[in-house]
Amino acid sequence: MKVENKASQQTPDSNDKKSSCNKSFPSLATCWGILILIMVLRIYISTVSEKQITNLTAETQMLRKKNEELETEKKNLTEQIQQMMTSWNDFNVSRAQWSIDAYCPKDKNNRRCNVCQAGWLPFQSGCYGINDAGRPEQKTWEGAREDCIGKISDLAVVNNETEKSYISDKSWNIQGIKGYWIGLRVEGGNWKWVDGRNLTNSTWIPGSPTDGQCAISVQNQGFKSVNCSEKNAWICKKKALTL
Ligand SMILES: *[C@@H]1O[C@H](CO)[C@@H](O)[C@H](O)[C@H]1NC(C)=O
Ligand SMILES: *[C@@H]1O[C@H](CO)[C@@H](O)[C@H](O)[C@H]1NC(C)=O
Ligand SMILES: *[C@@H]1O[C@H](CO)[C@@H](O)[C@H](O)[C@H]1NC(C)=O
Ligand SMILES: *[C@@H]1O[C@H](CO)[C@@H](O)[C@H](O)[C@H]1NC(C)=O
Ligand SMILES: *[C@@H]1O[C@H](CO)[C@@H](O)[C@H](O)[C@H]1NC(C)=O
Ligand SMILES: *[C@@H]1O[C@H](CO)[C@@H](O)[C@H](O)[C@H]1NC(C)=O
Ligand SMILES: *[C@@H]1O[C@H](CO)[C@@H](O)[C@H](O)[C@H]1NC(C)=O
Repeated sequence: MKVENKASQQTPDSNDKKSSCNKSFPSLATCWGILILIMVLRIYISTVSEKQITNLTAETQMLRKKNEELETEKKNLTEQIQQMMTSWNDFNVSRAQWSIDAYCPKDKNNRRCNVCQAGWLPFQSGCYGINDAGRPEQKTWEGAREDCIGKISDLAVVNNETEKSYISDKSWNIQGIKGYWIGLRVEGGNWKWVDGRNLTNSTWIPGSPTDGQCAISVQNQGFKSVNCSEKNAWICKKKALTL
């Protein structure tokens, strides 16, 4: 105890750690142990961080590679978009060409545009296809509708009195034709237009609606309810162009 006190008195400036290295043999061993431990730790830490650096370098390279891959993909997609735009434009142009040829036929070297295609009659905002087929080509209501749909139209839906009298007027009374199918038939006990609306003016067609009945237009006689599987002429309608 006395020796220790003396030592601490002789070196009052030295701190606790330094003084512990001046201790007797076992303390000196502890001191060396600590030093070795610190060195081992430093070596260990530097090895670990070296490993981490290697890992990070590898990861950076991987990310760089991935980035390159994405860039290539981006380039590819951009190219694809451009190709699609080109073919979209080609499609638009060919559709415009079709419309011009259909609505503005060439007459000598002049083009004259009509609101309806050849063979279709214009009236107000519609084009009407009067299919006054002879007996052998006449169709059931369904068959007539299919024909209209094939011509990018539908059986005529009549919206008001003006159109009704036009349809009636065009329901030409020709030998072998009883009447013209229009887009009106009974569905679920109600008269329904092919555009999904109900018939609003019940005086337009006499009799109570029975499923399996469809409407024909007869010149000067208005609409009549007949069996849908009868064969008749038919009237298609499509929207007219505005010029
Ligand atoms: C890098 O280390 C992480 C964990 O720290 C590990 O998930 C990953 O697989 C390592 N990468 C490489 C390339 O060794
Ligand atoms: C672009 O992608 C398509 C489909 O993923 C592939 O078929 C084509 O080979 C790729 N082109 C290039 C240049 O990578
Ligand atoms: C094609 O036509 C549509 C309109 O029908 C238009 O919106 C579109 O931008 C056109 N596309 C191209 C590539 O011209
Ligand atoms: C009748 O309906 C047609 C569309 O089918 C429309 O163009 C016309 O303006 C309508 N007329 C009246 C008087 O409502
Ligand atoms: C048509 O009329 C029927 C019966 O009156 C009704 O149940 C149905 O909701 C109507 N449909 C439309 C689209 O107005
Ligand atoms: C129903 O139709 C008849 C005949 O076309 C017409 O005289 C009458 O005004 C119409 N009624 C309504 C409410 O539109
Ligand atoms: C319509 O006619 C077909 C055959 O011509 C017949 O089987 C069917 O019962 C008729 N439907 C109606 C509602 O009269």
